[in-house]
Amino acid sequence: MKISVIGCGYLGVVHAACMARLGHDVVGVDVDERKIAALQSAAAPFYEPGLNELLADIQAGCTAHGAGTGAGAGSLRFTTDLEQIAGARAHFVCVGTPQRKGENAADLRYVDAAFASAAAYLAPGDLIIGKSTVPVGTAGRLAEDLHRTVPEARLVWNPEFLREGHAVTDTLHPDRLVYGIPDDEHRETTAAVLDEIYAAPLAGGSARLVTDYPTAELVKTAANSFLATKISFINAMAELCEAAGADVTELADAIGLDDRIGRKFLNAGLGFGGGCLPKDIRAFMARAGELGADQALTFLREVDSINMRRRIRMVELAREVCDGSFLGKTITVLGAAFKPESDDVRDSPALNVAAQIQLQGGNVVVTDPQALTNAEQRYPDLRYEPDLQFALAGADAVLLLTEWGDYTGLDPEKTATLVRARRILDGRNVLDPTTWRAAGWTYRALGRP
Ligand code: UGA
Repeated sequence: MKISVIGCGYLGVVHAACMARLGHDVVGVDVDERKIAALQSAAAPFYEPGLNELLADIQAGCTAHGAGTGAGAGSLRFTTDLEQIAGARAHFVCVGTPQRKGENAADLRYVDAAFASAAAYLAPGDLIIGKSTVPVGTAGRLAEDLHRTVPEARLVWNPEFLREGHAVTDTLHPDRLVYGIPDDEHRETTAAVLDEIYAAPLAGGSARLVTDYPTAELVKTAANSFLATKISFINAMAELCEAAGADVTELADAIGLDDRIGRKFLNAGLGFGGGCLPKDIRAFMARAGELGADQALTFLREVDSINMRRRIRMVELAREVCDGSFLGKTITVLGAAFKPESDDVRDSPALNVAAQIQLQGGNVVVTDPQALTNAEQRYPDLRYEPDLQFALAGADAVLLLTEWGDYTGLDPEKTATLVRARRILDGRNVLDPTTWRAAGWTYRALGRP
């Protein structure tokens, strides 16, 4: 099928490449010329495992292998010229919905602009499919506008659940596909077009749910709010564990064995960041307020503040370990990305902690395998060192804040030969305290004795 993807950020590029992998002829459009130039030479403008290989593979016209979809490769091109979307049957809108400056609500200007400008190129029977995370009610409003301009085009809300770091696999093998389509005489034919687009994942066992617009929009924000709540729950337990002398990792293992609870997303530590969970729970609260249902989501305020407290606690713990002051101390921060296998530093807990320690007089050195360029743009005043050994040299304390494999696999004996003082703070509860302590380190973590 001929498909267009409007917006080539983390979501759009992955979606475009994966749709081509599923056998479709895809054009990706973005206003950012630098991004499009990179994509035209098969280079992703950000780090995402497997994506560069996928882009190169498709643009070289190879047939499917390795991705395990069983579908033949389609074609993929990128342009800044929106007119090129004309002729596609389905148009995916994948632009960002960041938090509005100084407010909790989502900034919908890119979504509104994408729908308004795409309308000029839609033909009767085309589908325009929203994938961006939006406040409930947005799809209904956009559908009304669309009906006025192109009455025979159809709007679908099809939220995306991919995780950065696993984006290619999550898109090729989603656990569920949600189609938000109004319950009218066009519902079945519209759903059939989506079934054709997603034929390979559906054949591979992905669940398919057809809902109305508001339910589809809410599925996305509810899922992210649940995940954020789960993380903040275990982090609240970590606070209690610290007060009571208990170990939150053992607690998580034990409660996670109850399959009604489950062990996933119960990793206590520095908490959640990134371009999704923090801004999505805030936008959700703002929208609930507009709908007169703010009481339903007041608990999310607590989820947010538990999460933010973790960063403050990490700084306090580091200061405590450094004998009460950062002055004259070299603090090595391992990790800048908001999570491993990503170069995304949006609302990165690691960088937030690094910046606070620097403000309090610490001589901070930040290292990360992928995210230093982005980190430098956001926090230009921090010192960055790409080489792990150099970053560790002369450290008075080492803070593991993003759990990249390079850091979780550090050898305590070898690391001890590089640093000035053997102090390690495990912000993600991923190291074995026994081996580090046995090698003479002071080991501290959030929620562990
Ligand atoms: C999240 C959701 O997981 C995706 O399903 C969703 O599609 C995406 O947002 C989105 O809205 O686009 P993502 O932001 O890529 O995906 O990252 P997650 O894997 O959810 O991690 C978010 C944060 O939580 C990270 O900072 C991570 O370190 C932290 N986390 C995660 C914990 O602190 N503890 C855990 O147990 C799990």
